[in-house]
Amino acid sequence: MKILIAYYSRTGFTEKLADRIAQELKLRGHIVKTDRIDVVNRKSCWNLLFRQIYQYPLIGLSLISSSFYRWWVKNYYQPEEAIQSPDYSDVSEFDYVCIGGPKWAYTSYPIARYLKQINGLEHKPVGAFATFGGPPLKIFELELIFISMTRQIQKSGGIRVSTLGVSSNYHELPLIWIFRLVSWLILRHSLKSYTIDSDYGKQRLKAFCDKIEKESILVSKTD
Ligand SMILES: Cc1cc2nc3c(=O)[nH]c(=O)nc-3n(C[C@H](O)[C@H](O)[C@H](O)COP(=O)(O)O)c2cc1C
Repeated sequence: MKILIAYYSRTGFTEKLADRIAQELKLRGHIVKTDRIDVVNRKSCWNLLFRQIYQYPLIGLSLISSSFYRWWVKNYYQPEEAIQSPDYSDVSEFDYVCIGGPKWAYTSYPIARYLKQINGLEHKPVGAFATFGGPPLKIFELELIFISMTRQIQKSGGIRVSTLGVSSNYHELPLIWIFRLVSWLILRHSLKSYTIDSDYGKQRLKAFCDKIEKESILVSKTD
C-alpha cells in the first residue's frame, strides 16, 4: 500500500511516534511518505492554554455526567491554528492516511485546521494517532482525543479505522507530576510504562499497524 503519515508535533514526541509508525510500515513492505505539518506562527504554550481554558470546567463536568459528556463532545468549541501549506494538500493518491498530533484537551489546533483544509480524504481509511502527557485513561485521554479527531476526519469524508495513543511522559506546562501521580493511583503503573518505548507502546504500535493492513483490505473490497 501507499501510505501517508501526516503529523503535527510541537515538542517532538508525536514526531517520534510518527517515525516509529513509518519504520514499522516500511518493514512490512509498504511505501510510506511523511508530511510534517508546521504552523505559521509558533505561540507560547500559555497562549495555547488560554485559548480554551474557559472550557476546562466543562471538561470536568463532562467527566462526572455521562449525558453531559455525550452532548459536550459533539458541541465543544474546537480552536484552530493557521498552518503552512502541507507537502500533500491532496491525499487522493494514497491508499491509507495516518494523521497524528499531540492532545491539547482535544485535537491540537493545527491538526483541526489540517483536517479542514485537506483534499482527497473522501472514503479513505484513516488511522488517528496521538501523544499526551498523561497515562492512557479511557475517557479523559483516549476518548477525548479520538472522539474529536474521528468527528473531524468524518467531516472531511475519511473513515477512521484505527487509533494509537501513547503517553509522552512530558508536559510543557508544570503539570507532569499530577499525571505521574494519577498514573500510579489509577493504573498502578508508572507513566513510563505507557510511552512508545514501553511494552505497552510497542504492543499498541503493532496493533495499530495490523489494523491498518486488515481494515484497508476490507475498505478496498467494499469500494
Ligand atoms: C495547550 C496544551 C494542552 C495540553 N493538553 C493535554 C491534555 O489534555 N492531556 C494530556 O495528557 N496532555 C496534554 N498536553 C501535553 C501534550 O499533549 C504532550 O506533551 C504531548 O506529548 C506533546 O506532543 P508533541 O511533543 O508532539 O508536541 C497539553 C499540552 C499543551 C501545550
